[in-house]
Amino acid sequence: MKKLKVHLDRKQSQSYEICIGYDIFDRIAMMIANSRIAGRYVIVTDDCVGTLYGETLLAHLTKMGVRSDLIVFPAGERSKNVQSVLDIAGKLLDLGADRKCALIALGGGVVGDLAGFIASVYMRGVPCIQVPTTLMAQVDSSIGGKTAIDLPQGKNLLGTFCQPVGVFIDIKCLDTLPDAEYQNGLAEVVKYGIIDSESLFRQLEADVEAIRSRNRPFLEAIIQRVCTIKKGIVEMDEREQGLRRILNFGHTLGHALESASEYGISHGNAVAVGMIAAARMSQKLYGLPAEDRERIEGLIASLSLACGIPEDLATEDILSGLQRDKKKDGDTIHFVLLKKIGLPFINGGVPDDLLRETIEGLRT
Ligand code: NAD
Ligand code: GLY
Repeated sequence: MKKLKVHLDRKQSQSYEICIGYDIFDRIAMMIANSRIAGRYVIVTDDCVGTLYGETLLAHLTKMGVRSDLIVFPAGERSKNVQSVLDIAGKLLDLGADRKCALIALGGGVVGDLAGFIASVYMRGVPCIQVPTTLMAQVDSSIGGKTAIDLPQGKNLLGTFCQPVGVFIDIKCLDTLPDAEYQNGLAEVVKYGIIDSESLFRQLEADVEAIRSRNRPFLEAIIQRVCTIKKGIVEMDEREQGLRRILNFGHTLGHALESASEYGISHGNAVAVGMIAAARMSQKLYGLPAEDRERIEGLIASLSLACGIPEDLATEDILSGLQRDKKKDGDTIHFVLLKKIGLPFINGGVPDDLLRETIEGLRT
């Protein structure tokens, strides 16, 4: 098992480990038992992951003598809301969970964000352990302490920064992940290559077949690599004051596409198109070498991620989605753009006509 430590300099007491391995539920239970983080634990999961892994983790914890319970909610983004917070907090109270309990978020990003949010406010805050089970959550959302729920007005509008006390990544969970969810995670993996590491990007280009076939040693290496990148960024900018914003590469247009399509376009495909758009605008505005742009478009295509915007999505709807971007600064929409692969920066706004032209140029 590989361990990475997330060092949070200001508060060493809040530093934590990311443990990565294959088929490690028994060891996760042992580490939780030995950690004495809490007197009792409540696993929070969705009904899909609960059926696949909830009872198994509960049984391992019980075998280790750890007092634990399971709370299950319906899978999907639609559960990431205030009502779920109230329901789950109510169930915690029914179980008699007090300030000495800790939550274990077992699932994808929805579980991680929701359980993380509840942990950060339940009885003024209890510890949260992340056990991510989607590729997206294993390489991104479980690390870094962003928690959130959605409001009717938009995604992630209520949230906290609250670091987990530990992250346990069991790569075996990916064996049951549906292809579409795997693709969502792959888009984020590609993003990390583009924003931080040309060598990771090259490795992805060279091993498309290993990625497609979910080759285990390859996946282990890639997940470790991406977690190391994310941890480094979070260590430098825990609260997204600057550097951490580069993690939004491809997400500005991506989020607008998701919302204009009423979430008919998956997150991974929307981010893939957003990354192509950002590369095209970077070439036009900042001289990103054509070869780098072509490599980005080539890798995205070879992984069968989306490369274009369907005709039935109106440009005006996409542009008005961009206007609602939560990271907008006054009237300026900041994009993460590139000088070259591995060298991103936050730009000070893209001219409207270039934005329109880029969207139109991506029509399929
Ligand atoms: P998800 O949590 O909805 O999971 C996708 C589906 O896969 C669900 O139906 C789930 O039940 C199922 N699933 C999970 N693990 C499985 C497994 N091992 N086998 C079979 N099925 C499994 O989606 P996601 O893509 O993991 O997360 C998306 C959420 O993450 C969004 O709400 C997004 O806002 C959030 N997010 C948060 C951060 C952050 O930094 N906090 C970063 C990126 C995304
Ligand atoms: N996924 C974006 C972040 O963690 O900042």
